[in-house]
Amino acid sequence: MPKHLTLELISLVNILCIHFLKCLMVQRSTAAYGPLSCHCLFLDLMLLGFFSPQYGIVLDAGSSRTTVYVYEWPAEKENDTGVVSQTFKCNVKGPGISSYESNPGALAKPFDDCLNKVKERIPVHLHKNTSVYLGATAGMRLLRLQNETAANEVLASIQNYFRAQPFEFRGAEIITGPEEGVYGWITANYLMGNFLENFHFALKYITGPFVTMGALDLGGASTQISFIPEDSQENFNSTLQVKLYGYNYNVYTHSFQCYGRDEAEKRLLALLLQKSNTSSNVDNPCYPQNYNTVLMIKYFSGSLCTQSLRPANYYPNQLVNFHGTGDPGLCQEMVSLLFNFTACRDREDCPFNGIHQPKAKGNFVAFSGFYYTINALNLSGHFSLAEFNSSMWFFCSQNWAQVSRLVFCLSYCFSANFIYYLLVYGYNFNAETWPQIHFQKEVGNSSIAWSLGYMLSLTNMIPAEGKLIQLPLKPALFAGLLVFLTAMALLCLLFLVYLLSGVQQRKHGQIGHFAW
Ligand SMILES: *[C@@H]1O[C@H](CO)[C@@H](O)[C@H](O)[C@H]1NC(C)=O
Ligand SMILES: *[C@@H]1O[C@H](CO)[C@@H](O)[C@H](O)[C@H]1NC(C)=O
Ligand SMILES: *[C@@H]1O[C@H](CO)[C@@H](O)[C@H](O)[C@H]1NC(C)=O
Ligand SMILES: *[C@@H]1O[C@H](CO)[C@@H](O)[C@H](O)[C@H]1NC(C)=O
Ligand SMILES: *[C@@H]1O[C@H](CO)[C@@H](O)[C@H](O)[C@H]1NC(C)=O
Ligand SMILES: *[C@@H]1O[C@H](CO)[C@@H](O)[C@H](O)[C@H]1NC(C)=O
Ligand SMILES: *[C@@H]1O[C@H](CO)[C@@H](O)[C@H](O)[C@H]1NC(C)=O
Ligand SMILES: *[C@@H]1O[C@H](CO)[C@@H](O)[C@H](O)[C@H]1NC(C)=O
Ligand SMILES: *[C@@H]1O[C@H](CO)[C@@H](O)[C@H](O)[C@H]1NC(C)=O
Repeated sequence: MPKHLTLELISLVNILCIHFLKCLMVQRSTAAYGPLSCHCLFLDLMLLGFFSPQYGIVLDAGSSRTTVYVYEWPAEKENDTGVVSQTFKCNVKGPGISSYESNPGALAKPFDDCLNKVKERIPVHLHKNTSVYLGATAGMRLLRLQNETAANEVLASIQNYFRAQPFEFRGAEIITGPEEGVYGWITANYLMGNFLENFHFALKYITGPFVTMGALDLGGASTQISFIPEDSQENFNSTLQVKLYGYNYNVYTHSFQCYGRDEAEKRLLALLLQKSNTSSNVDNPCYPQNYNTVLMIKYFSGSLCTQSLRPANYYPNQLVNFHGTGDPGLCQEMVSLLFNFTACRDREDCPFNGIHQPKAKGNFVAFSGFYYTINALNLSGHFSLAEFNSSMWFFCSQNWAQVSRLVFCLSYCFSANFIYYLLVYGYNFNAETWPQIHFQKEVGNSSIAWSLGYMLSLTNMIPAEGKLIQLPLKPALFAGLLVFLTAMALLCLLFLVYLLSGVQQRKHGQIGHFAW
């Protein structure tokens, strides 16, 4: 038997025995002689939870809006799994920060409204002790590609704003696509308790490496997929090594720029315009029947994602009238044009656009835009692919008079077709594997979003090493520990037997029931 396993097993016996002994003593001292049921575990947890909380704030500066998250945890347990939870969330009014490129000064006002609410949530004496992190995602990545000066000005303006705030500002940065993907993966698995750090010892030999869930994130400007590939030999070029609580995870992650919900729809509109014979009246099969809207061409063609689709004679302020035809079949056909399958040349490990991707495996949690879309179709949790298809067809075939009551309903037919296409034809989920995707936006009251994983990582709240000593043991040390722990375990067990026999006598030989 490996040395560590031996020590861990004996430690496990010790811990269980001592815990049980303690329970027994408490029960004896409170003279509770019912069937032996031990509630001390609960007592322990209550005692451990009795700590002053700490707070952290993360601003998720997405392409379409900024969300402020407030997290809380008991200070003394900050490195444990599952102790950080979200206590407050607030959406900053107005568009995402990348929209302020021409007027960064105007950022302050909408931020104020949210920050004032946050200040009420956190005790005043802790304000100075609360860190604020701002991470910007694909919207700012695109702006930086388009005009780096403008992107830096927006970030500088945010720095200025937070210098005047009572909190400890830890900087505003643009995070990369792979970071966004992995932080989302960490958040999802942290919240679902998949990093079982508390039951570390021994268990890992019995259960093998912990099972994690893949993460599917759909933002406004990019979409991320992250999971642990089946083939552990998967080449390290496409995976990121993450070390959490003493375990190594090779996470495959990819962020598809311009495949976020909003940018994808802009590309669809630009494609529809390109394909139509007129430049002012365009049918949109993804809009509800009889819906008409007039858009300035720069609204969709001004983006970096649609640059290659701009008409030859491009006048940013030219108006285009889009007319909805509510045709789900045609909508799907148009959506398919957003993906380039020829670039993969039938390679199996390639979803689209020539990107390498191992076969998707295991369970997935699909959050943010994925969740909001299926929620608009009145679906939730997990359901069959056929169910999704029929809900989508029903939703997309409605005419404008029927759907106008729904807020934000306009784009959901497109989103539904887009995620259907992305998941089925892009990532190759089929009727059989589809139910492995769980559409979920939060666990408890904590949102599944990259922001929590980001904070956990920046604050080192997920240590790379587990708590157990994993250093190579010298034979002498091993022998010493073995003797000591075995003696402890034997003593404890003997004492336990002694106590139990006492209990049984008092209960006239009745055999106790041990409930934990
Ligand atoms: C958490 O881990 C970090 C780094 O591993 C360490 O510096 C810090 O003291 C730990 N905090 C607690 C409360 O254990
Ligand atoms: C808050 O206080 C704790 C404990 O005193 C300290 O470890 C931590 O670094 C402080 N955080 C900030 C942001 O000042
Ligand atoms: C980039 O942004 C800056 C600041 O907003 C602006 O002055 C400049 O004209 C922009 N450059 C381009 C090429 O758009
Ligand atoms: C990994 O990337 C390097 C350089 O980008 C390349 O030379 C190497 O062949 C790649 N390895 C695999 C297994 O794809
Ligand atoms: C555009 O014109 C061509 C040829 O005139 C025609 O075949 C096609 O159906 C037209 N497309 C649309 C969207 O009207
Ligand atoms: C698809 O990708 C290939 C290879 O990168 C490229 O040659 C082709 O033009 C692309 N097709 C479209 C429709 O973008
Ligand atoms: C979803 O359910 C609500 C309430 O039952 C209903 O008003 C709405 O029309 C439904 N939406 C769809 C797309 O079925
Ligand atoms: C989706 O549903 C529609 C309408 O019920 C049906 O015509 C179509 O064949 C379905 N598509 C798939 C792939 O099942
Ligand atoms: C979630 O929040 C609601 C309302 O704030 C609260 O009643 C509920 O207990 C919370 N649930 C959890 C699991 O924290």
